[in-house]
Amino acid sequence: MNDIKKAAQLIRDGKVVAFPTETVYGLGANALDPMAVARIFELKERPAFDPLIVHVSDLEQLYGLTPDRDPRIALLAEAFWPGPLTLVLEKTSHVPDIVTSGLPTVGLRMPDHPVAQELIRRAGCPIAAPSANKFGRISPTEAWHVSKNLPEADYVLDGGPTRVGIESTIIGLRPDGFVILRPGGITREDLLGIIPESSEAPAPGSPEAPGMLASHYSPAKPFYLYSEALAGRIDPSRAGYIRYSGEIPLSFARVITPTQTADLREYATRIFGAMHELEASDVDVLVAQPVPENGIGIAIMDRLRKAAHDWEAGAV
Ligand code: TXA
Ligand code: MG
Repeated sequence: MNDIKKAAQLIRDGKVVAFPTETVYGLGANALDPMAVARIFELKERPAFDPLIVHVSDLEQLYGLTPDRDPRIALLAEAFWPGPLTLVLEKTSHVPDIVTSGLPTVGLRMPDHPVAQELIRRAGCPIAAPSANKFGRISPTEAWHVSKNLPEADYVLDGGPTRVGIESTIIGLRPDGFVILRPGGITREDLLGIIPESSEAPAPGSPEAPGMLASHYSPAKPFYLYSEALAGRIDPSRAGYIRYSGEIPLSFARVITPTQTADLREYATRIFGAMHELEASDVDVLVAQPVPENGIGIAIMDRLRKAAHDWEAGAV
């Protein structure tokens, strides 16, 4: 479970390897090998319209995948890489169409996890990797989350629990600044410290952010955001509660408090783990207390709303 050399050889052989990044575990394959990338889509049961992020170990590798020499790339790289930021940039012809779902752009990032970095370096190729979960399900932040839900992966590298806990922030670059396509580990305020934000907001559901579906990150058991209206509709003795802070409103069978000090960053590192734990436990229903929408709280609420979407809409 921790043989990086073997994992790198498997990547070179066109296999699919799950590996830790600082955000969540990824399900990786050689980004330049369309057949290997096709297996990622197959194992994840991921629709072909949802493009993958390509992970690189250095800027030289990145500039082989994009012709874009916008000086803001180097500025952002200097400030945030390695780290949880993905840039959507024009792609070169080296990037197979299957990676980008036919889009002329590619999502690129340099992960900040020693295992991920060594894996990319040893494999000698960029690694395309979505989060290592079945499509639409909870993202994995520990190796057992992957082994349980994706036993078909050729190998799972165990790097312990991930440090950030939610996915990278995805941005595009416009002439007047950045646009956030998916909130994540790097906040809007972090980005504003380096370059301005564009006045243009991407239309929801536009082809520019094809993976931004309303429903995602969803546990296999009913999942709701707590509200007073919900309180009368559930049996708390059969439910698990993910608490942010304050009083516990009902007599829930289980309570998980990801942070004791109302620290949103700490909460972010544990939220997917809490969802996995309750999903695997004896409760029938999961309930999460909403968190304040500032800083990384924006990315957390994005994930909680998407996890609850289908259940709250009564679609499942
Ligand atoms: O932290 C992360 O970003 C993790 C780790 C493994 O790196 N990866 C991840 O990948 O979250 P995934 O597949 O779960 O989400 C990738 C999303 C797609 O759903 C899509 O919204 C966006 O990235 N994306 C990728 N390429 C894109 C492109 N060319 N244009 C717009 N959005 C793109
Ligand atoms: Mg994902």
